[in-house]
Amino acid sequence: MKILAIESSCDETSVAVYDTAKGLLSNVVATQIDIHKKTGGVVPEVASRAHVEQILPVLDEALGLAEVNLNKIDYIAVTHAPGLVGSLLVGVNTAKTLSMILNKPLLPINHLEGHIYANFIRENQESRIKNQKFKFPAIVLLVSGGHTSLILMKDHGKYKYLGETLDDAAGEAFDKVAKVLGLEYPGGPNVSKIAEEFRKNHESRIMNHEVRFPRSMLDSGDFNFSFSGLKTSVLYAWQKEKRQSKELKEMFAYEFEEAVVDILATKTIEAARKYKVKTVSICGGVAANKKLRNEIESRVKKELKKVSFCVPPIKYCGDNAAMIAACATYGLKKTKKKVYSLDFEVLSNNVL
Ligand code: KG4
Ligand code: ZN
Repeated sequence: MKILAIESSCDETSVAVYDTAKGLLSNVVATQIDIHKKTGGVVPEVASRAHVEQILPVLDEALGLAEVNLNKIDYIAVTHAPGLVGSLLVGVNTAKTLSMILNKPLLPINHLEGHIYANFIRENQESRIKNQKFKFPAIVLLVSGGHTSLILMKDHGKYKYLGETLDDAAGEAFDKVAKVLGLEYPGGPNVSKIAEEFRKNHESRIMNHEVRFPRSMLDSGDFNFSFSGLKTSVLYAWQKEKRQSKELKEMFAYEFEEAVVDILATKTIEAARKYKVKTVSICGGVAANKKLRNEIESRVKKELKKVSFCVPPIKYCGDNAAMIAACATYGLKKTKKKVYSLDFEVLSNNVL
């Protein structure tokens, strides 16, 4: 069966074509980074206008790369929540229109569930074997620009929230700290890049660097997070510095990244231990962070014997339609229905 998937929840317009037997046939992502750089962040109206301009060329390109004609599509899947309403509407209205014209069923997909299913994207027939590493129950750390949650996943489609951020999401904290340090949008990758410079160039100073930030809620005894205090600590400490040199900036980025990763990794391992899971997984835009990937992987290996670690390839951590298609394949198995209603809304806020 062939699935056409559409993702437009924030600032990436993406269309994928997925074959349930052969795997991913194409995944085109048009990013709006250059547009939002000018304002240092996403302006919702500007984002939805850019989606309107991009959606049809991206659709054409995805079908072309997959060498699939629209009338060969069996199902359409689209992100309907959560996200920016104006952005979501572009993808959802495109999907509804295609569904009506082609008379094909339509599946609304939750964006957060999509991020989790980035772990299950099959790039070809062989990659089915790799997915077998993901065994239930699993602890999933979902870290993106809008969400930071620890989820216990008992089976496909079965989620229990163990905790989440009480204020800023991890990605949001990265983006705000980037602004404090005068780095360009999108902040996360740029903070990480200069943190890596510090790690590389000042190995001998790593243990004795002068800047320290708090590990908020590390001992709170629950699985919630808070990053707003950490962000404010960075701001105040940076404003106090008389000489804001390149090296100091790298040190700030390094210590901030260390603090975020330490908090996320510690709580994830604690949750995995408490719920005796078989898999630890991370997903969402911040899962592209190399320090986070390496730290959780090495702590799982060291502290949790026989537990496997799963993370999507970096290219599928940020927003993309391939993950929406992968999620849809499990939705199809679950419902076994052929007809889906067009009567669903976009929602800015929606949990799993
Ligand atoms: O999942 P995503 O693409 O969009 C949302 O659903 O929010 O996540 C975007 C977030 C942004 O805050 C971005 O700065 C962050 O992920 N991010 C990173 C890295 N790459 C993206 N944060 C830290 N390190 C990275 N390498
Ligand atoms: Zn996302």
